Amino acid sequence: MLILAIESSCDDTAAAVFDGKEETVLANVVSSQNEIHARFGGIVPELASRCHIEMIWPVVREALDQAGVSLDEVQLISATQGPGLVGSLLVGFTFAKSLAMVRGLPCVGVDHMAGHILSSMLEQERPEYPYTALTVSGGNTSLFSVASAVEYSRMGRTRDDAAGEAFDKVAKLLELGYPGGPVVSRLAEDGDPKAITFPRAWLGKDSLDFSFSGLKTAVMNYVHKLRQKGEPLKIADICASFQEAVVEVLVTKTVNAARANSHTRIALGGGVASNQRLRTLMQQACDREGLSLFVPRPAYCTDNGAMIALAGWYHYQAGRRVEWDDDAYSRSPLN
Ligand code: KG4
Repeated sequence: MLILAIESSCDDTAAAVFDGKEETVLANVVSSQNEIHARFGGIVPELASRCHIEMIWPVVREALDQAGVSLDEVQLISATQGPGLVGSLLVGFTFAKSLAMVRGLPCVGVDHMAGHILSSMLEQERPEYPYTALTVSGGNTSLFSVASAVEYSRMGRTRDDAAGEAFDKVAKLLELGYPGGPVVSRLAEDGDPKAITFPRAWLGKDSLDFSFSGLKTAVMNYVHKLRQKGEPLKIADICASFQEAVVEVLVTKTVNAARANSHTRIALGGGVASNQRLRTLMQQACDREGLSLFVPRPAYCTDNGAMIALAGWYHYQAGRRVEWDDDAYSRSPLN
């Protein structure tokens, strides 16, 4: 079955064409709005919605062209229903429902979190069920116990900022541009992760929840103090020390979650999962603990249509379909 998938939950317009039977990605196209939002230091929701409207058809067209598939051959439409920015979601979700309706095709609404939870399944080396999934992006930081392709239970989540949001806010403070994660991690390569001791929020011995707002405030206070004294900022050291604090908490809690569930497999998903330091320290921790780690390629970590196609395909097989009056939602029932 050929699936056309659409993802527009935030600031990327994405479409994919996917062969369900072979579980193969035939095309995965993303149009980024980074340049538009960069000068504001963060996403402007109204601009994001307008850009999605402009880009949705060209991106779908491009995905079909790259896959060598005509619209007539598409048999299922899958689209992100939530969570995210409602204005952005509505563009992709309404487009998908309209296309499905006029073509007489089934349509599945997918939770964006399910896409990130399953994204490692897009690779050759896939985790078997059950596994522990860390989904870590600009909007979410959560831990899930994944029992099957359509059964996930949340074990922990952030109580305030998402990890990617913390990267973005620290980058804004240091005037490094948007999105913050890639530039902070690049600068961190030349810095000393032990140069500054920023706080780690453990939230109690057994807690699998996260908190990154205290860390963000600690970086702000540190930077303001130096600026007030007129002392130079060692940007690389700040980036490396901040990143280390985020990564250490993510790694420790993910391994604790796997242990608590007696899982032997961990999978990562979400934009921050493309962070090299996170990948390295998570791999080291898994090697120490005898766990297997599954990390999708960066293109499947950040928002993409391929993961929405895969999740849509699994949910379609489980009997899920949208009603035509189904609405987009901003908060995930999974989270
Ligand atoms: O999954 P994603 O594309 O969109 C959301 O659903 O949020 O993730 C975007 C987030 C941004 O906050 C970005 O700064 C962060 O992922 N990010 C990174 C890296 N690449 C992207 N964070 C840390 N290190 C990276 N290499």
